[in-house]
Amino acid sequence: MTDHIYAHEHPETERRRDGGFTLWFTGLSGSGKTTIAHLVGPAIESRGPIVEYLDGDVVRTRLSKGLGFSKEDRDTNIERIGWVAARLIRHGAAVIAAAISPYAETRQAARSMVEQFGPFVEVHVSASVDECARRDVKGLYAKAFAGEIKGFTGVDDPYEPPEAPEILLDTEAQEPEESARLVVARLEELGLIPAGIAA
Ligand SMILES: Nc1ncnc2c1ncn2[C@@H]1O[C@H](COP(=O)(O)OP(=O)(O)OP(=O)(O)O)[C@@H](O)[C@H]1O
Ligand SMILES: [Mg+2]
Repeated sequence: MTDHIYAHEHPETERRRDGGFTLWFTGLSGSGKTTIAHLVGPAIESRGPIVEYLDGDVVRTRLSKGLGFSKEDRDTNIERIGWVAARLIRHGAAVIAAAISPYAETRQAARSMVEQFGPFVEVHVSASVDECARRDVKGLYAKAFAGEIKGFTGVDDPYEPPEAPEILLDTEAQEPEESARLVVARLEELGLIPAGIAA
């Protein structure tokens, strides 16, 4: 019950620092979100902005500690990431969120929160379930297929791919470095980071 909480009575400052944006990676477990995020982050920092990572694995040990993988808990996790991302970009930070974020409606809720303060750039990190299961970096697909983990995204829980992401990465066709280059180029195109000096 939140009836007795008076959040609306807390006035907010109108001040903002320009330049903030959120890069929101979504995709199956093992698709490459974290791998690519950590290639893109340093490239962004080399152009000036300070990057804050909100990676699902880390957030779930801190901000979302104790949440599970029911639809309700997954939604709460994504809404928390969206809310924090919005707060941070008001300060001009570049936020890189990397969580499976399987539900389109919840990603839209995160987008709406973020867009109050700056751009939301959705990156669909795409790879088939077969390919992610072949990689199976964390051994989770094997457990999901064996029925030891229930409600695993792509196995017995849905993944709703974005219909119109700002960026689509095919990690079955592109190496991580190539994906990272595409993201950085798109951020330049969108005017969110200054053009880099060609190496
Ligand atoms: N073309 C590729 N692009 C990205 N990652 C790749 C590619 N080929 C192989 N990989 C490997 O796939 C794995 C992707 O794992 P990663 O932890 O980045 O996925 P994730 O999307 O963050 O998953 P999770 O949701 O479980 O955190 C890494 O071990 C990476 O080296
Ligand atoms: Mg990850």
